[in-house]
Order: sequence, then structure tokens, then C-alpha cells
Amino acid sequence: MKIPQQQQQQQPRSAPDALLRVDGLVKHFPIREGLLRRQTGAVQAVDGLTFDVRPGETLGVVGESGCGKSTMGRLITRLLEPTAGTIEFQGHDITHLGVSAMRPLRRDVQMIFQDPYSSLNPRHTIGTIVSAPFRLQGITPEGGVKKEVQRLLELVGLSPEHYNRYPHEFSGGQRQRIGIARALALKPKLVVADEPVSALDVSIQAQVVNLLDDLQDELGLTYLIIAHDLSVIRHVSDRIAVMYLGKIVELTDRLSLYQSPMHPYTKALLSAVPVPDPRRRGVKSDRILLKGDVPSPISPPRGCRFHTRCWKATEVCVQQEPPLVELKPGQQVACHHPENAADQVPDETVLESAREAVEIVSLAPKTEAGTVTGTEAGTGTVTGAEAGTVTGAEVGTVTGAEVGSETGTVTGTGAAGSAASAASSLAESAGEASRVREPGGQPAPEPRPAADDQPGPAGPAPSGGTT
Ligand SMILES: Nc1ncnc2c1ncn2[C@@H]1O[C@H](COP(=O)(O)OP(=O)(O)OP(=O)(O)O)[C@@H](O)[C@H]1O
Ligand code: SF4
Ligand SMILES: [Mg+2]
Repeated sequence: MKIPQQQQQQQPRSAPDALLRVDGLVKHFPIREGLLRRQTGAVQAVDGLTFDVRPGETLGVVGESGCGKSTMGRLITRLLEPTAGTIEFQGHDITHLGVSAMRPLRRDVQMIFQDPYSSLNPRHTIGTIVSAPFRLQGITPEGGVKKEVQRLLELVGLSPEHYNRYPHEFSGGQRQRIGIARALALKPKLVVADEPVSALDVSIQAQVVNLLDDLQDELGLTYLIIAHDLSVIRHVSDRIAVMYLGKIVELTDRLSLYQSPMHPYTKALLSAVPVPDPRRRGVKSDRILLKGDVPSPISPPRGCRFHTRCWKATEVCVQQEPPLVELKPGQQVACHHPENAADQVPDETVLESAREAVEIVSLAPKTEAGTVTGTEAGTGTVTGAEAGTVTGAEVGTVTGAEVGSETGTVTGTGAAGSAASAASSLAESAGEASRVREPGGQPAPEPRPAADDQPGPAGPAPSGGTT
């Protein structure tokens, strides 16, 4: 079988002025069993990441729950020891620096944690929490610690009078602001934000995202933002890395990713997100629902890790792992048969199993703004209660747990574990009628209105992921 063009393409090279450079980063968590605690296997959480982060940019990292995003963030901030690979910050190799050697660098690399409830010590006042970095670094800011902490609180939109209060007196959004103030205390160069808004209500999410945006402009920060919410990632990122099972499968600028994704997984993820463009509201679109669970990172599939769920998989995908290579200027992709490229997979070489790997949902144009249609789709039903309450901003917010619960309701395909399918089901909740095609490509019978074909009461907003 012919291995397509990209095998001969250049390996991507990092920008010469990169602030952070990661090369072949690996983290395997050993699995030990028995009395002697012998290692019997390993969770391959991160398996060979290579990318860089340029000064002043925001690199978004997106992927399904469990694909290794948080592990990557913790490796970069040196909260975890890598199994292999290198991490360079401002040209210095920090891969294996010890605690004391890392201390000066902690000023420059800070982390915002996902859960604003557990990331603040409930016994400490806000003043103590935000001033901790000064104490740990032995730094006294000009004007004193208290004055500086109060300035930071103001910077993130809190009152300086909150100095003596305790975390339990604050809402989730306010607590995340406190976490941000703490991360910014030492004027870092790089901020790694692990799901900074996923634990927050959607209305608060926008405030915190805008705050991060403003602070970036004001302080010249560089961000690496981890999220599973494609809407958040789209809003904040200059470039986006898509992860699947411990690997980056596509890395490119925001426009290229959303307009011409090249990796089938990226395409499936994006197909599930409604286009926030009012001019396209009347356009019919197809959504790709991936079937099957995400494979275990303990024994990931050989060859391309996505081949068990890819509708284009051929023998070469099973046999050979596709390298991450630059297929278009600035667009790195790890795929033997990329989308939006001349070298498409011939239909007769596609594996039999691949033909069953996805389900296409055709979404009819929306007819009337705000009208929700409960429809039968395949074997499942979108009820009025589920519909009408999910906004476009929420649609991409998917966790593994949500996926399992949502897919059965809408598609009845058993496609648990698929972010695309869950996001799609939420999109349907936003009021778009759908029809599921049978695997052979035949559309299912015409949808008929559900009994409660009325906008339902406000349903629960999808919660954030787990880390
Ligand atoms: N300390 C650990 N020991 C063993 N396995 C771990 C450890 N931390 C993470 N893992 C495993 O590594 C894999 C990646 O986990 P990680 O938390 O990085 O995923 P994630 O992409 O951040 O997921 P989520 O979106 O749910 O936060 C998972 O299978 C997880 O169970
Ligand atoms: S076409 Fe092959 S290499 Fe590309 S994503 Fe699908 S299975 Fe992987
Ligand atoms: Mg995580």
C-alpha cells in the first residue's frame, strides 16, 4: 500500500524564539501489583509530545477526557517528573531540575488549576493565599506585601477589602479570580491554565475568559490553556493543539483548524460544534458521531491510535504510526490520509471495520429562532425538557461522564466516550432537528414531533471536566 505524501514532508521545527519548547515528552504512570509491587504495566498518559509556545501567544490544548492534557500541564510546570523527552524554557533545559534549582523558575512559570474549590486552602485568608508566592520566593514587593496583594485583587476584579476573608465566603468565579491573582503575583512569563473555567457556570465562564484575555494584553503574558470546551478554546487561542490518547494529532493556527481541519478526529470534533455565524444558521450540515469508546491508555491501539474509531482507516493505519508532520505551512498533522488534502484514501482500501466507525447525523436548517423541536433520532429521543436550554457556548463542553449519559438519550448509538457525539447531542438540545443515517448511508425515517414538542424548562448546564 502506498504511504501518502506526508511521510516525505519535513518534520516540524520549533520557532527559534520559542518561550517553551517541548520535545518527545513522555509520561507513563507505572501500574504495580502484588505484594512486591512489581510493575505490570503503565498508563501511557502522555506519549511523545513535541511543540513550542511562542512569547505572547495563547496555545490552546483540546481533547477528550483522559487524553493526557492535565498530565502535560503538570509536566511542563514540573509538578510531575517526565519519563522521557525534554522541556526547555527560554532556552534552558528544565526537564529534570530539582526543587531548589526550579525555585527561581517558579516565578516565571505558573499554573491556574481547574477546581477553584479545592485549589485554595480553606483555612487561609485570601491575603495569605495570594501572598504565598512572595513568601516562598522570599520577595518583598515595593510598598509591602499587603499593598501588592490588594493591587492584585483589584487587577482581577475583586475588592481589596477581601484581603482578610476566607475562600468559603466566595463564589466559584470569585475563587477562580483569587487563583488567577495568586498565579500572577510574581509576574510570570508563562501561565499554564488547566481547564480554568470548566468548573464555573457558563455566565461566569465568559467573565473569567475575558479577564484572562485582558490580563494577557495588560501584562504581556503567554498562555497555555487546556480545555475540553471547543468554544472556550476557539475564543482564547492563537494556535490549537488537538490531543488524542496521549498524542498531538493536529497543531495549527485557529483559523486553519476551524476552516480546514486535516485530521479526521479534529474534523469529527468540530463537526459537532455549531458555527456561531448567524449567516449560516439556515445551512444544512452533517455531524460525525464517533462510535465506540476511547481505547485504554494502558494498551493503546498500535499504529495510529485513532484507527479503531476512524472511518478512513486502512491497513497502513493499523501497521504504522503516522508522524506529526507539517502538511501545510504551520499546520502539523499526524495522519496517513488527511482531510482537505489531495492524497485521499481510495475507497476500496478502507477497512471493513472503519465503515462502521461513525454515524452521520444530518441537521436540518433551523426554521424559527428559539423554537425547539423534540425529534426521534434513530432509537433515541430528544425531549422537550432537554432542548432549548443549551447555548452555543456550552455545546463543546463535554466530559467522558457526560458523554455516556447524553449519547444514549439522543442517538441511541451506544457511542459512549465520544466528545463529538456528546457535543452533537447537546447541539440538538439547542433546537436543531436531526435525522440519523443508517450505517449504509440511508436516512432513518422522517422525524415526527415528540409529544412534548415545546421548549422545556431550564435544564442543567453541562458541568466541567474532571482532573
Ligand atoms: N497519578 C496518576 N497515576 C496513574 N494514572 C494517572 C495519574 N494521573 C493521570 N493518570 C491517567 O493518565 C491519563 C490522562 O490523565 P489526565 O488527567 O492527564 O487526562 P485529561 O486529559 O486531563 O482528562 P480530563 O479532561 O478528564 O481532565 C488518564 O488515563 C488518567 O487516569
Ligand atoms: S486515516 Fe488512518 S492515520 Fe489518519 S486518523 Fe484515520 S486511522 Fe489514523
Ligand atoms: Mg484534566
